[in-house]
Amino acid sequence: MSTSNASTTEVSGRSILLDQVTKRYPGQAKAAVDGLTLEIPAGKIVMLVGPSGCGKTTTLKMINRLIEPTEGRIVLGDEDVTSISGDELRRRIGYVVQGAALFPHQTVAQNIATVPKLLGWSKERIAARVDELLELVSLDPNTYRHRFPRELSGGQQQRIGVARALAADPPVLIMDEPFGAVDPITRQRLQEELLRIQEELQKTIVIVTHDFDEAVKLGDWIVVFREGGRIVQYDTPERILADPADEFVENFIGSGAGLKQLTLTRVRDVELADAVTGAAGTPAAELLKRAREAGHNHAVVLDGQRRPLRWPSLRRLSRMDLLPAERDDEMPVVAPTASLQDALDTMLVSSAGAAIVTGRRGEFAGVITVEVIMDAITRARESAAEVAEDAPIGLNTEAIAVVSGDPS
Ligand SMILES: Nc1ncnc2c1ncn2[C@@H]1O[C@H](COP(=O)(O)OP(=O)(O)OP(=O)(O)O)[C@@H](O)[C@H]1O
Ligand SMILES: [Mg+2]
Repeated sequence: MSTSNASTTEVSGRSILLDQVTKRYPGQAKAAVDGLTLEIPAGKIVMLVGPSGCGKTTTLKMINRLIEPTEGRIVLGDEDVTSISGDELRRRIGYVVQGAALFPHQTVAQNIATVPKLLGWSKERIAARVDELLELVSLDPNTYRHRFPRELSGGQQQRIGVARALAADPPVLIMDEPFGAVDPITRQRLQEELLRIQEELQKTIVIVTHDFDEAVKLGDWIVVFREGGRIVQYDTPERILADPADEFVENFIGSGAGLKQLTLTRVRDVELADAVTGAAGTPAAELLKRAREAGHNHAVVLDGQRRPLRWPSLRRLSRMDLLPAERDDEMPVVAPTASLQDALDTMLVSSAGAAIVTGRRGEFAGVITVEVIMDAITRARESAAEVAEDAPIGLNTEAIAVVSGDPS
């Protein structure tokens, strides 16, 4: 029997269904969320975006019933959780609030232990879990477990907030603007960390954000809401960028949809351009001749392990005798995991107007050029034009009425 799938991570997340859910706050004429049906697939990250007051937080908090829906059902996996105890439900759904909101008089370890303690875990089990989670969010347990929240940076507090939400290994994680309060560089690091953690854990994660770029970067799916929790578009980031449902979504995306598309594609996913290569210590004239024949302006010098050392122009090459073995640290190099956006940044500051791509062990893999990037954007557009087969459901009740009223 084949066990070739052993390395594939198992989806630990459970699907969520909001079934015709409405929230009317007392004294409000209009519903904050109106007849919303939203299916959130297991093991995916779904981003909720839309203008202020459109009902994102209300929608999110109805998932763990911190806000009780006025009408409708909440289903977790295949279990209707609309009327089970709210406390019981919230132990199964990790919740990360903006600014982390840690308990100020409790240590990091106590904060993380909140839910396990409620669940009656033993001291030893809790201590082990705290350390495991601190490792997971890249904080050294010995350094941090006894600190108080005020002794941490904003980004570290946010990490502890994520660790606390994950403590009892809930299948679902909901986050309200989790990275809104940190500086852009820390935010980027936290986003990457979340993606890494998700690759490992495969939770079902719902995130509210104001930042459309964040939605594109993190989301498997994005819901664009307008006022009243009305869905304008529920689609993959690729499709929302390539084919926004209407002007409202277009405005929401903002300018530079093409540039945002570049953040979605990784260097390893594109077909690279070729280059002529020569080994260090061999005659430069020989490499020059081959590069001329190929019609290239540059050629790559490699070391014994086929790692790039330098990338001289043919003019510089013509002044060399033997190909030098010293590495040129200015050489524009990108990794296969870099986004096309990162690659473009590197290319723009390089004199060659292109960049060298290396593989996992640093070996030469090819060259990325503007043409390669243009080609990738065109392909992304074309493939985004096809609607995903596994698209989850997202609509509001008035839309159901229209569909069921249709005689065909
Ligand atoms: N407790 C409440 N009582 C009455 N109205 C409320 C209450 N909470 C929210 N609302 C109203 O419900 C609507 C949706 O609010 P919600 O907090 O869900 O918006 P949001 O999309 O999260 O906005 P933001 O991006 O500003 O956080 C708003 O019009 C808001 O004024
Ligand atoms: Mg909100």
